[in-house]
Amino acid sequence: MSTIDSASQALVPEESRALVLEEFGTLPRLVERPVPAPRTGHTLVRTRAATVAHLDLNILDGQFGILPERPFVPGTQGSGTVLASAVHPEGALVRVRGEGLGLTRDGAWAEHLLVPDNAVEVMPEGTDPVLAAIYFSPVGTAFAAVHPIARVQPGERVLVTGASGAVGALVVQLAARAGAEVIGVVGRPAKLGQVPAPAKPVLAAELCAEVMGGPADVLIDTVGGAVLRDALTLVRPRGRAALLGYTAGRELTLDLADFFLADVTLLPVNMISRGKEVAPDVVRLLPDLASGELSLPHERYGIEELPEAVARLRTGAAVGRVVLDLG
Ligand SMILES: NC(=O)c1ccc[n+]([C@@H]2O[C@H](COP(=O)([O-])OP(=O)(O)OC[C@H]3O[C@@H](n4cnc5c(N)ncnc54)[C@H](OP(=O)(O)O)[C@@H]3O)[C@@H](O)[C@H]2O)c1
Repeated sequence: MSTIDSASQALVPEESRALVLEEFGTLPRLVERPVPAPRTGHTLVRTRAATVAHLDLNILDGQFGILPERPFVPGTQGSGTVLASAVHPEGALVRVRGEGLGLTRDGAWAEHLLVPDNAVEVMPEGTDPVLAAIYFSPVGTAFAAVHPIARVQPGERVLVTGASGAVGALVVQLAARAGAEVIGVVGRPAKLGQVPAPAKPVLAAELCAEVMGGPADVLIDTVGGAVLRDALTLVRPRGRAALLGYTAGRELTLDLADFFLADVTLLPVNMISRGKEVAPDVVRLLPDLASGELSLPHERYGIEELPEAVARLRTGAAVGRVVLDLG
């Protein structure tokens, strides 16, 4: 551990590549820029991987409650190797997130980044850098939805929408581990084969109680919009529905008379408030993710392939997490 010394300074180039956003509603440009200068209370990281998530797209579009001054480097989460830090071991693989990363300060879509020491978490040795960058949000969200929020019980029938997505695929696997019978819904035929076993994959257009073998005890919806509206009708009275995404639409209209009659409890999943609570459980699942016992679907792109990565995420064509692999 050290502040930057002459030996590690030799490893740091003067300039490196970064994706810089100049105007909201456009895509960032790949530019060479000076590597950020070390600063007290901050850790200099050689980025290894960075997520491209729905939150990042909202920020690119200027559609989020907190927005950065431009130009800036997006990227709210990533991983990398510590180059210089007063508190984190040099050479350690770390996950970086929070403290306004990619929001109020430059983020992870760059080969080098300077982050507050508090935004850095050392990962267990041998963790895949891509896994380190992407695992926390989908695993934490899925865990929170299945366990503390929906409280899935053995033998229950659980309906999961967006079941080939990053969160949905983990919900499927964790609900199955909890002893549930799982039905995994996808919007496109091409994704039927991407629903993890042992769930029964079903196309949204063909979903009905008959295909499911009866109504669901629990719905875990990762998609929102019309998908949620339709899936809610398939939950039994006194069943539960955990809602965690709105990619397909932010609004849900309820006819109150029908809502009372249906008697389904709506449960919001909020990882901002649940993150700390589930963190120990998420870390305990890391070995299973590393060994492949639990799978976290993702697509990798080079830094110069950002436009393709964004397009795959925006159109819903991507299977699982989208991640920039920065080597
Ligand atoms: N509440 C929280 O605290 C919290 C935390 C983390 C994530 N989230 C949210 O959870 C959701 C799922 O996350 P994820 O990482 O699993 O997302 P994802 O993999 O990108 O998407 C999940 C599924 O949504 C469907 N989809 C994607 N784009 C669509 C579009 N434009 N129109 C209609 N359907 C579309 C796709 O399923 P099909 O192609 O099969 O339809 C996709 O597999 C996201 O909305 C994310 O923002 C919420």
